[in-house]
Amino acid sequence: MPVMTRTVVVSGGGSGIGRAVAITLAEGASHVTVVGRRTGPLEALAEAHPGTIDLVTADVSTPDGARRVADHLASSGHGCAGVVAAAGGLSPRHAPGDGLAEVEAGWQAAFRSNVLTAVLLVEALTPALRDASGRVVLLSSVAALRGSGAGPYGAMKSALHAWMFDLARDLGHHGGTANAVAPGFVPDTEFWAGRLDDDVIRRKSLETLVGRPGTTHEVASLIAWLLGPDGGWVTGQILSPNGGSVLGR
Ligand SMILES: NC(=O)c1ccc[n+]([C@@H]2O[C@H](COP(=O)([O-])OP(=O)(O)OC[C@H]3O[C@@H](n4cnc5c(N)ncnc54)[C@H](OP(=O)(O)O)[C@@H]3O)[C@@H](O)[C@H]2O)c1
Repeated sequence: MPVMTRTVVVSGGGSGIGRAVAITLAEGASHVTVVGRRTGPLEALAEAHPGTIDLVTADVSTPDGARRVADHLASSGHGCAGVVAAAGGLSPRHAPGDGLAEVEAGWQAAFRSNVLTAVLLVEALTPALRDASGRVVLLSSVAALRGSGAGPYGAMKSALHAWMFDLARDLGHHGGTANAVAPGFVPDTEFWAGRLDDDVIRRKSLETLVGRPGTTHEVASLIAWLLGPDGGWVTGQILSPNGGSVLGR
């Protein structure tokens, strides 16, 4: 019987933290399937790592998009070694004086972007994760631990935590793990595009104990460790690489 190759699915793999995770895993000889809504950045990554990174263009905040990823794994004969749910980010905020309809729209958009992207993708891949004793990492944020001043964003990320605890219980029965990684300030990402200047970088760096922002590589390498040979006994945890801006996590 042929041995099934296993892949790690990385949503948001076309940029920022997800892209760094995909590269770190691929350089460590894992097969990676990157997922995002724009094909261009995913194709560039796959072309730079032939045979190691493949791609699915999909909006994983929708059932159809999440199903497309699961169908791709089934048709390419890949088992699911893990899921890194990095798709997410800030949604347009309602302005002071907006009505409740705008408030509702902002919260719904944040829910779709940060919660449904993770839930639908992991649910679509759960049978494959169970079969392969797979590992899940959900991208949360320090905003989930201390608020963000950005409306629903921190609340949506903290919703992932309680769901992750249930996931860890379920996957644990099958030899798998689930954790949340809640980074602090990582500026070299599209998340911060158009919102950075010297003052923001200085202020955010001063919030840390080490006096500097984090890098996508530092976050990716923690995630790769959770997915790697030594990470199998860490599950149900919220790990926050944040330079000391929030203590005790
Ligand atoms: N950067 C930070 O300081 C920071 C701190 C804490 C937490 N985080 C979290 O880390 C995660 C990664 O963000 P990042 O900082 O690396 O920013 P980023 O560069 O904006 O990455 C987000 C990625 O998610 C993809 N994406 C968004 N919605 C999607 C959807 N519905 N379906 C499929 N793909 C989708 C985007 O690509 P497409 O637009 O092509 O779909 C993009 O590649 C996010 O969840 C973010 O909230 C970031």
